[in-house]
Amino acid sequence: MSVSIKSQREIEIMREAGKILGTVMRDLSKEVKPGISTYRLDKIGEEMIRSYGCIPSCLGYDGYPAAFCVSVNEAVVHAIPSKKIILKEGDIVSLDACLEHKGYQVDAARTIGVGTVSAEAEQLMRVTKQSFFEGIQYAKEGCHLHEISNAIAAYNEGYGYGMIRELVGHGIGVEMHEEPQIPNFTQPRRGMKLYEGMTLAIEPMVSAGHYALEWLDDGWTAITADHSLAAHYENTVLVTKNGPEILTLVE
Ligand code: MF3
Ligand code: CO
Repeated sequence: MSVSIKSQREIEIMREAGKILGTVMRDLSKEVKPGISTYRLDKIGEEMIRSYGCIPSCLGYDGYPAAFCVSVNEAVVHAIPSKKIILKEGDIVSLDACLEHKGYQVDAARTIGVGTVSAEAEQLMRVTKQSFFEGIQYAKEGCHLHEISNAIAAYNEGYGYGMIRELVGHGIGVEMHEEPQIPNFTQPRRGMKLYEGMTLAIEPMVSAGHYALEWLDDGWTAITADHSLAAHYENTVLVTKNGPEILTLVE
């Protein structure tokens, strides 16, 4: 499969979709507080997605059993929501979901502190988010993919963090995962040239310690092998001639 260039019509649909997912992320983030289970957060988020007439497209994807991935502390991504996982003050939690709207996918993730968190956790979340903005400066026609990857990696590594290597960002559109793959670690090659109309899910996944992952027996949850805290920040971004247009961010 090659990289798809979206038409004006497709871009308009993905803008609508992105606004909905951005709103869901903003609103679901407000539900994060001590005492709530990750199961409950998923259910609230799924209901929000459905209230806009959209499909929670992670649900059933490769057999994934929920609408959201809700990953706490050392869980990096793809943690299955559970009634047994109750958030407590000082945790950090990543909410990650895709939705389908009029046949198109969008993807976003946020990491949020539960109540007051440590200065270390606060910094990890802030740096992970900022690295996304460092990277997307190159989501511009004529730039090459490695400029995004390298900017994300350099910013995080400046803080001594580990860049997850086993999972990457991706193109997105009719399919949740399209070409190209978008690594968050330094690339030896330039990668493809970027053109207006590409839509990319750019998603730094960052460990406060080493980048190595372990996978839990549930077959989904990825945790840091050294159990350090991890953060994830993601938006679906449109490449234009003038720079990035972030489709899934509503504040
Ligand atoms: N945003 C996640 C990703 O790009 C979505 C995971 S979908 C799942 O990998 F359904 F497999 F969880
Ligand atoms: Co993604």
